[in-house]
Amino acid sequence: MITNHDSRQKLIAILQLAYSGELAAAYAYRGHWQSISAAHERDAIRNIEADEWRHRQLIGEMLSTLGSGPNQRRERRATIIGRTLGLLCHVMGWLTAMYGAGRLESRNVREYETAARHARDCGCVDFIDCLLEMAEVEWDHEHYFRSRVLSHWLGRRLPLWPQPEPRETIRLAHDDEGGQSAPEAQLPAGAEPVTRTV
Ligand SMILES: [Fe+2]
Ligand SMILES: [Fe+2]
Repeated sequence: MITNHDSRQKLIAILQLAYSGELAAAYAYRGHWQSISAAHERDAIRNIEADEWRHRQLIGEMLSTLGSGPNQRRERRATIIGRTLGLLCHVMGWLTAMYGAGRLESRNVREYETAARHARDCGCVDFIDCLLEMAEVEWDHEHYFRSRVLSHWLGRRLPLWPQPEPRETIRLAHDDEGGQSAPEAQLPAGAEPVTRTV
């Protein structure tokens, strides 16, 4: 039987993971946009870096509300990984960096959906809307990097990571499982609700 305490511990664990993951992502994107010459791509990835710093701040506040904080071992690891990836962006090539970013972002969508589920299960309902909004922003990030990969002749020939479900299903799936996200989350005419197994 899953208890409220179990869900709270799971929520803290996934928020600590996400908090450090955002640090690694922000450092990696800083190197990524600095390695790119096209102004529209530099601006887009710089905005994505800003999103990751904002996410990190929000998650930090949630951890504090839960009476917890960052995992220092994960923080050190994330700093090394993020800075290393940021440097590698300067040498590994445009397509590799775009591909790697898109693949990682698809995981981030699921991470925030799972966190929203744990928040619901342990009664932290105030976190849910924010967590689902972050899942939506990660969906936008994945969509951007996928579009960049597909804009390249070689990228169109590569096997891509699984495409996330449509953006609107993030809130619909949560509501369908008994959670409440936001009043605007309505099932579009003809759309099938998504049943998740995670
Ligand atoms: Fe993020
Ligand atoms: Fe992201």
